[in-house]
Amino acid sequence: MITNDASAMLPVWDLHRSVQARSTNWRSKDLLGSNPIPRDESEGDPAVTACGLRTEDDSGLIACGLRVPRLSWRLAAQRTGVVQQAYRIQVAGEASFSGEVDDSGMVVSDLPFFAAWPARPLRSRESRWWRVRIQTDVGWTRWSEPAVVEAPLSSEDWIARPISPQSNVGRTAPGPVPLLRREFTLRHECRRARLYVSALGLHDVQINAAAVSNDLLEPGWTEYRGRLLFSTYDVTHLLKPGRNAISSAIGEGWWRGELTWMKRRACYGETTALLAQLEIETVDGERIVIPTDETWRGGYGGLRLAELYDGTEFDQRLEPQGWRSAGFDDSGWERVVELGQPVLEPRAMPGVRVLHTLAPTAVTREGHHIRVDAGQNLAGYLRFRARGASGERVSVRHAEVLDDAGRLHTAPLRHARATDTYILAGDGAVVLEPRFTFHGFRYAEIEVSQNAIIDSIEIVVLGSALNYTGSFECSEPALNRLFENTVWSQRANFLALPTDCPQRDERLGWTGDIQVFAETACLHANSRAFLANWLKDLALAQRADGCVPSTVPNVIVGHEFEYGGVGWGDAATVVPWALYEAYADREVLARQYASMRAWIDYGASRRNEEGVWRSDDLQLGDWLDPGAPPDRPHAATTESAYIATSFLSHGAAIVARTAKLLAFARDAEDYLELSRTVAEAAWRRWERTASSTQTGCAIAIMFNIAPEPQHAAIGVELAALVERSRGRIATGFLGTPLVLPALTRTGQIEAAYQLLRNRACPGWLYQVERGATTMWERWDAVLPDGRLHKGEMQTDEGATMTSFNHYAYGCVAAWLYHTVAGIAPDASRPGFAHVIFAPRPGGELTHAAASVVTALGRAAISWTLTGAEMRVSVELPPGSTGEFHAPANYSISLGARTSGLGSGTHHFTLMRTG
Ligand code: BGC
Repeated sequence: MITNDASAMLPVWDLHRSVQARSTNWRSKDLLGSNPIPRDESEGDPAVTACGLRTEDDSGLIACGLRVPRLSWRLAAQRTGVVQQAYRIQVAGEASFSGEVDDSGMVVSDLPFFAAWPARPLRSRESRWWRVRIQTDVGWTRWSEPAVVEAPLSSEDWIARPISPQSNVGRTAPGPVPLLRREFTLRHECRRARLYVSALGLHDVQINAAAVSNDLLEPGWTEYRGRLLFSTYDVTHLLKPGRNAISSAIGEGWWRGELTWMKRRACYGETTALLAQLEIETVDGERIVIPTDETWRGGYGGLRLAELYDGTEFDQRLEPQGWRSAGFDDSGWERVVELGQPVLEPRAMPGVRVLHTLAPTAVTREGHHIRVDAGQNLAGYLRFRARGASGERVSVRHAEVLDDAGRLHTAPLRHARATDTYILAGDGAVVLEPRFTFHGFRYAEIEVSQNAIIDSIEIVVLGSALNYTGSFECSEPALNRLFENTVWSQRANFLALPTDCPQRDERLGWTGDIQVFAETACLHANSRAFLANWLKDLALAQRADGCVPSTVPNVIVGHEFEYGGVGWGDAATVVPWALYEAYADREVLARQYASMRAWIDYGASRRNEEGVWRSDDLQLGDWLDPGAPPDRPHAATTESAYIATSFLSHGAAIVARTAKLLAFARDAEDYLELSRTVAEAAWRRWERTASSTQTGCAIAIMFNIAPEPQHAAIGVELAALVERSRGRIATGFLGTPLVLPALTRTGQIEAAYQLLRNRACPGWLYQVERGATTMWERWDAVLPDGRLHKGEMQTDEGATMTSFNHYAYGCVAAWLYHTVAGIAPDASRPGFAHVIFAPRPGGELTHAAASVVTALGRAAISWTLTGAEMRVSVELPPGSTGEFHAPANYSISLGARTSGLGSGTHHFTLMRTG
């Protein structure tokens, strides 16, 4: 949890201390001097090895997105209490390390991640090998297995240009998807081939009719004007001597397709295009480059429409047979035109992939309609096998919920048609699935024409391919389902970028939503590279005065909500800090620092003469708090100027901590001072009213707006508010992440459990009781009388707003990890290098467990209550340390060691005292 505890300013903490000068000639004696660490490398620690070597690039691509990558590894140990004391890295041109070697020398550091690259920057296309050995308290380990790092193409080496068929240039109406192809001859076997590829729109490149990867919706969505991602694929295995074909369809995607409820098209350009550079080395040493250029041909096929919101239309009869393979006659196809080069950047985060496939939990048929229940709300589509004569038709509609009559309830999708239509060619059974689109749904309805037959159906779950490794379970099944719902909402909304929802005509990078959810996202999965990528777009989208748009990428330009104010713009400070706490990524703080500062400077400039945020600025505020009028979610019960001022103080404290870490001493002082002054001004103005709402109290405590000595009393008031509402939650987007931590911090643990476990509306478990499988946007998306919330909004567009898949309220999962199970990172040694185990049992829970796969390995906790006895086991990965804090009303046996815990498993037995 991020807090505005200015008094707890972090000490300057060096990620890797005492870095020795880089040497190409390792001489341990000189470097070690009188260092107490054993000198003789041969002394050896055979029980430990460095493994899992990786760079900070999480793309899974063959090339690393950074020319100066930071290096990480894990320690595999056959004993406990393992601590790394130092490491040494070598980089060489050969896996044998026989030639010239760059050597870091001994670097004193206890962290096996984000080590500096001890060599010159990688050159375009270059591959180099690296290995590491570490020193433990026992001695030096042997060298790790080497790992290779390959560089992508540098911008000056791109000779390819984006290409489009002439007839696709300047087209703004939705229409058929252009196809592009080219053939070429290889005289010899291919020794090595790389494809560097991107698109204005979406591509699905194939070589000789085989996909170059499993990535979908490539190249994702970034602030395209400032950066368009490209991917590097190893395609050696796809090429053969003789004729070869390279091909791609180009979907509208985010580039030219419809976006937002305002139905904006062509936000980035009126032409979609492919950009690809295929580089081949044959066994006889020949180098061949196949760039997209005017030698390619363009045409159209069966895909008549491919829109993210509306879905696809595919007429199999129009698909040219064999156009993906060599030998196809494209003489009737069009010439292509070359376009200007975009600003390219290698992708360093995971691509969108199929995360799972599910079998439907129910399939029912009525006449020509087949109803499919996926049993789970998700982002993805249906894949099915169909048969039928030429001209037979199959169409699939999607919805998150059913209406009273059991029909698909599509009203919440608003303009998004979310329909995939297929016309069969009569060529026997075919497997059909849409391309260049996805839907947010649990239910689907397949409509088949007279003689079309569906043989089998599966549900394809899409999302960015993050490693989802966090776990939580406890003795209350409803809480377990709640936890799962938060994970499913992340899966569905971490799709190329962090979005609000995956189903209606938005799917936008609303900054407020991820501001609220980032901390949880970093526990559920390795979200570092994904969010770090998006933060670059945030900085690009930021206005010159530092104001942060409500959506990143910003495609709601000119709308009254374009700059939604506080809590949304605060993604600029909160998200980088969440990455720092969870992953110790100081680099992301350094990179975002200007953006973080700019947002806070902007906020500081919005203060009035009282020193608080002026009240006439538009604020989305404690959005959707249950006390706000349903059609005006920003008109929340907690005054938005109080929230805005408090966030300014909180954000300034984050910038102060960041400045201290980055050794900007002056800034650290200035922003700390700003944080204090703003908090004081806020408290002067709102002291008497702040504690009248759950959000008001939570902010006063968690952002240190109220002076410390008053926290306990505010905690009592907050607990009383919870009691008075019989456990019903009263917070919106901005208050929700803070309310349980505020109760915890002030010792009101039973009130926190009352809020968490309340099953009446509104509440987290109310959603679960009503069958939610993902987190809802509104607490009462299903009303207590069972009706679906209509979600009317008082806006110019007269839109409705009810999504069943918004992760914001899923931020509660952070509390499940941190407090119910009791596992959290420690901001003074972030990245779970030091783990705080502080379980706080409550409610009627008798058991809880959670685990997080950190950069060091798995950290876990499990506890069980039997009568007055509490048994706890904690697990720490090699290289980490931890401490255990017993709950207030439990005593731990005398002499039990609770601090300075080392790697391995530790058990504690406690007795309830009160
Ligand atoms: C989105 C939200 C967003 C909000 C702010 C909604 O339409 O779905 O999650 O943060 O607008 O205006």
